[in-house]
Amino acid sequence: MSNILAYKHIILGVTGGIAAYKAAILCSRLVQAGATVDVVMTEAAQRFISPLTFQALTHRRVYLDMFNIPSEENIPHITLADQANLLIIAPATANTLAKLANGLADNLLTAIALATHAPILVAPAMETDMWQHPATQANLTRLKAWGATLAGPAEGRLASGAVGRGRMVEPDEIVETARILLAETGDLANCKLVVTAGGTREAIDPVRFIGNHSTGKMGYAIAHAARDRGASVTLITTASLPPPLGVKLIKVASAQQMRAAVLKAIRLTDVLVMSAAVADFRPATVAEQKIKKKADSSIGLSIDLVRTSDILADVAVHVDRPRVTVGFAAESENLLDNAESKLKRKNLDMIAANNISATDAGFGVDTNRVTLLFADGTKNALPLMSKRSVAEIILDNVVDLLCEA
Ligand code: CTP
Repeated sequence: MSNILAYKHIILGVTGGIAAYKAAILCSRLVQAGATVDVVMTEAAQRFISPLTFQALTHRRVYLDMFNIPSEENIPHITLADQANLLIIAPATANTLAKLANGLADNLLTAIALATHAPILVAPAMETDMWQHPATQANLTRLKAWGATLAGPAEGRLASGAVGRGRMVEPDEIVETARILLAETGDLANCKLVVTAGGTREAIDPVRFIGNHSTGKMGYAIAHAARDRGASVTLITTASLPPPLGVKLIKVASAQQMRAAVLKAIRLTDVLVMSAAVADFRPATVAEQKIKKKADSSIGLSIDLVRTSDILADVAVHVDRPRVTVGFAAESENLLDNAESKLKRKNLDMIAANNISATDAGFGVDTNRVTLLFADGTKNALPLMSKRSVAEIILDNVVDLLCEA
């Protein structure tokens, strides 16, 4: 199971702004995800929040200054800088950004920033005028050119009571950005993956459509897990769930739109995972105006349906066919036989078969129970587990298939 934050050593630098209290939430999230977090506070930060808060959250000592350190740690900025997998500075004041952009090392945090080879993530927080000042903007341009990653700032209510840009982004967004940075060494780094999610909607008229119960949760879990393993992910979806940060989102509605988006996106793609529930039929014509019922209640309505194209079958013969193609088979009976015939018919490397008649697996729920079937005839029946866990196991197999491809 990939949890990119587990066992990672993160230095959390906290500087002096009111958003320092949110750094405690960030710290807690990182610790809960399994990271070892060493907190380094500037003097100004200690006026906003107590070091004891961070000590309690991390169960580790909090570093406050360069010179008041036990003798066995005689060069702490070098030790910390060497150990770190990631340096996060949140909140980062305009003053600290200016120091960083000029290579100043007048406190423990800026000295670590200068000494470390770990990626640096800064989450600025300041009043809008300070943010917009050319000096701050020039400092940021410089820091980015040196490889630092910026999270925010967001727009919203500031310490002064004014509303504008300068608010530190929420801790969860900083955690997601940290995951993306750490994923650069993941087992899908340099891999381009396209995943589809949700059920397509086939319009009958401007008001109605033919749809299905798919919510997109499985596809989103795959997109999220793949991103955390370093893949560059394109998510083609009909669902309106919030997309994982850093994932390229393409919204579509119908099977035809999904087909066009998939065939365009697979250029130079390594992996395609078709987890969407694509309609097999669509109305032959879409009424331009809302269809009205007749006064005579005995007159019903028939809608002519025509077949949609099979996207996976089209991908199988496409010049841009990805190195690995994965399908899903949602079945209510003869699960394995039906899945096996789809695997062959659609020329897939792997298919995840799930019985959609179970209430704890399939559409809309957070858990799934799938059997993975492979082109070489092997099968792996997985127990009930979270969709995220299913996603991780699918991706473990994708990594193996990529090695064989
Ligand atoms: N699929 C596709 N294009 C379609 C229909 C389905 O690419 N027009 C993909 C789905 O995304 C899934 C796989 O094919 O990965 C199997 O989809 P499923 O609906 O289970 O099977 P169908 O091929 O549609 O067969 P049937 O509906 O007869 O079971």
